[in-house]
Amino acid sequence: MEIESLAMALEREHREIDAGIEAFTAEPGARESLERAVRALRRHIYLEEEFLFPALHAAGLTAPVLVMLRDHGQMWATLDALDAGAGPASCRRLSVQLLHHNLKEEKILYPELDRVVPEPQAGRLRAFLDSGEMPAEWVCLRARA
Ligand SMILES: [Fe+2]
Ligand SMILES: [Fe+2]
Repeated sequence: MEIESLAMALEREHREIDAGIEAFTAEPGARESLERAVRALRRHIYLEEEFLFPALHAAGLTAPVLVMLRDHGQMWATLDALDAGAGPASCRRLSVQLLHHNLKEEKILYPELDRVVPEPQAGRLRAFLDSGEMPAEWVCLRARA
């Protein structure tokens, strides 16, 4: 069986997070699936900002990386609102933010990952997607005071 590439694993995580948000939008009682999606998205952003974007930046993809960092900062504010108990309107906002953001990442940045993040680093990051934990106090770059 073919090993899943890092890009494929990240795209799968995009879909899983979308599904968690949709479950809450469809049934606002399903707060647990929303909370799981929020946690997963924070960790996803952590992995991108700490491990992928520096490598993509070093490979010359500076402009798209800056756009992605700005998107993350905006999404992080929505995640904070959701953690503080915000309802479906914030959820819809997050869905729209993700729709645009994920599309850009998948079209522009993820196709470069095979080249820019080689094995065994890619394998370590896939393992992190399976079971890694974001440092508890970590905050995305553009959300720092
Ligand atoms: Fe991202
Ligand atoms: Fe992503």
